[in-house]
Amino acid sequence: MNAIADIAIVRGWLREARAIAVLTGAGMSAESGVPTFRDAQTGLWAKFRPEELATESAFRANPTRVWDWYASRRAMMKDVRPNAGHRALARFQQRHPGRLTLITQNVDGLHQAAGSVGTLSLHGNIFDNVWLDPCAGAPGCSGVCEVSRAQPGRPPACADCGNLLRPGVVWFGEMLPAAALAAAEDAAQTCDLMLVVGTSGAVWPAAGLAHTARQGGARVVVVNPEPSELDDAAHALLRATAASALPAVLDD
Ligand code: OAD
Repeated sequence: MNAIADIAIVRGWLREARAIAVLTGAGMSAESGVPTFRDAQTGLWAKFRPEELATESAFRANPTRVWDWYASRRAMMKDVRPNAGHRALARFQQRHPGRLTLITQNVDGLHQAAGSVGTLSLHGNIFDNVWLDPCAGAPGCSGVCEVSRAQPGRPPACADCGNLLRPGVVWFGEMLPAAALAAAEDAAQTCDLMLVVGTSGAVWPAAGLAHTARQGGARVVVVNPEPSELDDAAHALLRATAASALPAVLDD
């Protein structure tokens, strides 16, 4: 059972909670100017096909196209700033060290920029580059391709073995970073309260964390101006945006 809730009720639950987990998605950064994926008009997947841009096979088929799309997203995200919701989460962590575990599907780095600590980034960071393949061991590579020796180009390539750099994000069909996922699952199992902020709940295993929290006995609150696939897992719904609801819930 869930219901559209009053902020005061959720503030009360927050005060009672010893351990809090927060799961964020693209809606968390919408008010910073970062487009979401699945919003009907403005979402990235309304304009682009994920299987052509966000899979390893798409990159192997057309590395320049995929690299350029990520380059345009990097350029767009370079100058965005944390919004009032990111800042409220960071302030709460500073006031209550060790009490709030932040888990994000976002790759924009805005939680870290706001000052949040220990953020579990389930889908990587768009500003990181990683090698597509293990080093082929060509002469000069000595078993490890060095980013510092990547040749300019789109994408940059290893001068010795031709290995390509790719963005350090998790693509469809790929495993999530094991340590971050394990820590997120632990936080979901042991929290007393989970806030689920700005996610459609369409992508697993991240979405499963809300169900894990509920099964573990936590209260679950969804913060989203629109219905989401995680509403059924929630005890309460806040039909509000991240930048308006989070300061209202988290600040003293
Ligand atoms: P989606 O685009 O699927 O969902 C964004 C959610 O944010 C929607 O439910 C919106 O209603 C909500 N929303 C929009 N504006 C908001 C606001 N100001 N405040 C709060 N909520 C708002 O994004 P994700 O759920 O994050 O994966 O998508 C999950 C994953 O799918 C992403 O991490 C990405 C994508 O493919 C990878 O990159 C691996």
